[in-house]
Amino acid sequence: MPTAETTLSTPLDIPWVRAQFPALAQTVNGHPAAFLDGPGGTQVPQRVIDAISGYLRRNNANTGGAYATSRDTDAMLAEARAAMADFLNCGADEIVFGPNMTTLTYAMSRSFGREIGGRDLGPGDEILVTRLDHDANVSPWLALEEKGVTIRWAEIHEENCTLDLADLASKINDRTKLVAVGYASNAVGTINPVKAIIRLAHAAGALAYIDAVHYGPHGLIDVAALDCDFLVCSTYKFFGPHMGVLFGKREHLQRLRPYKVRPLTDAIPNRWEWGTLNHECIAGITACVDYIADLGRGAYDRNGLASLDGQPRRLSPHGPSTLGPDTPGPSTRRAAIVAGFEAIHRYEHALMDRLIAGLAKIPAIKIYGITDPARFEERCPTLALRVINQTADQTPLALAAKLGEQGFFTWDGNYYALNLTERLDVEKSGGFLRIGLVHYNTVEEVDRLLAALRDIAGR
Ligand SMILES: Cc1ncc(COP(=O)(O)O)c(C=O)c1O
Repeated sequence: MPTAETTLSTPLDIPWVRAQFPALAQTVNGHPAAFLDGPGGTQVPQRVIDAISGYLRRNNANTGGAYATSRDTDAMLAEARAAMADFLNCGADEIVFGPNMTTLTYAMSRSFGREIGGRDLGPGDEILVTRLDHDANVSPWLALEEKGVTIRWAEIHEENCTLDLADLASKINDRTKLVAVGYASNAVGTINPVKAIIRLAHAAGALAYIDAVHYGPHGLIDVAALDCDFLVCSTYKFFGPHMGVLFGKREHLQRLRPYKVRPLTDAIPNRWEWGTLNHECIAGITACVDYIADLGRGAYDRNGLASLDGQPRRLSPHGPSTLGPDTPGPSTRRAAIVAGFEAIHRYEHALMDRLIAGLAKIPAIKIYGITDPARFEERCPTLALRVINQTADQTPLALAAKLGEQGFFTWDGNYYALNLTERLDVEKSGGFLRIGLVHYNTVEEVDRLLAALRDIAGR
């Protein structure tokens, strides 16, 4: 009998994928757990767990020491930087590690305000932020108001939660020093045309700071093609440990002045990394990037991705686990990551189409964000919804709690996309219920969720 997955055409070997993630096997009240909370943080494959515990077991040390485990630690950090450089398509010296995206962004905003173009930012300078963004790409820039910087806001089209690009363009001028924009909305799933926005920023002489935290698990990031000045992401959103990563163009990391302790080297990227980093988690970063690359290598062998870089591939029915060192496949890790994200994209979009089509048949539910299938390439599979004319037991929190009892892990509230929930006037009534799909979710989970929502929300 065909499994549910075979009803979707996918280059991913979903049983193999799910077997990588031990957490997915859990149950709640006898129900299989359905992790639909990816936007809050994804689960990790066994290899990430092994890399973290292996580092603690064998190599646990500080950096720069003249002994074996310290040298191992230096080598491990270099490997993780190289892995993230492959992930983002940049130089390893342009990768800065930090505790999370928010902390890295505050560090950058403090230093950005301190000196740029030979003087501190102040009155007359402007920074553009958007109503769609997570507050971590807003508040650190708002903090520069204390220096007299003017913050301008790009508005949204309320009917589909996309950025109003005409409004955004009209607010960039020769006073604009920075445009801070998200790659994708963690609340409603909109993917912003960041490349075009970066071009607008550069044309006005401003820099572009891209929050790719939500986009990270869903799409390929190429900072070279984007030509962004900074891009931040968090590895815990794409199957890795709780860490933040900042890409900064070499010239900016060298030119801007970090607040740092005197003995710390002035070389990049280390001048931006303060104190001792979370080495064990960084050990897990290489493993999570390699996991995505392995998805790509396996996808070569399955339907549709046999010649992504123009090379014919040997077909194997079993996915990445059968690949040995001599197996033909993408020639570099970056090429494998490209293939991995193409496979993820195809599968996630098939799941998302099914979920949105199912939700559209529940009249009591309203989806916020893009619902026109012709524009689905402009969204990722993160859905915000509410029950129309909700009763007290149909608030987003009540929905999430009822679903939680049945093993569906979803979120309610604003998820720090505060400007959006305020703009749409849902903040005081509980925000949204958020369903976030990633590539380890299944058709069966989507169908069960739809049935549960029909029961709770009314048909
Ligand atoms: C779009 C977006 N930006 C920024 C953040 C903050 O990331 P971090 O938790 O790494 O500070 C999040 C966290 O959910 C997010 O979804």
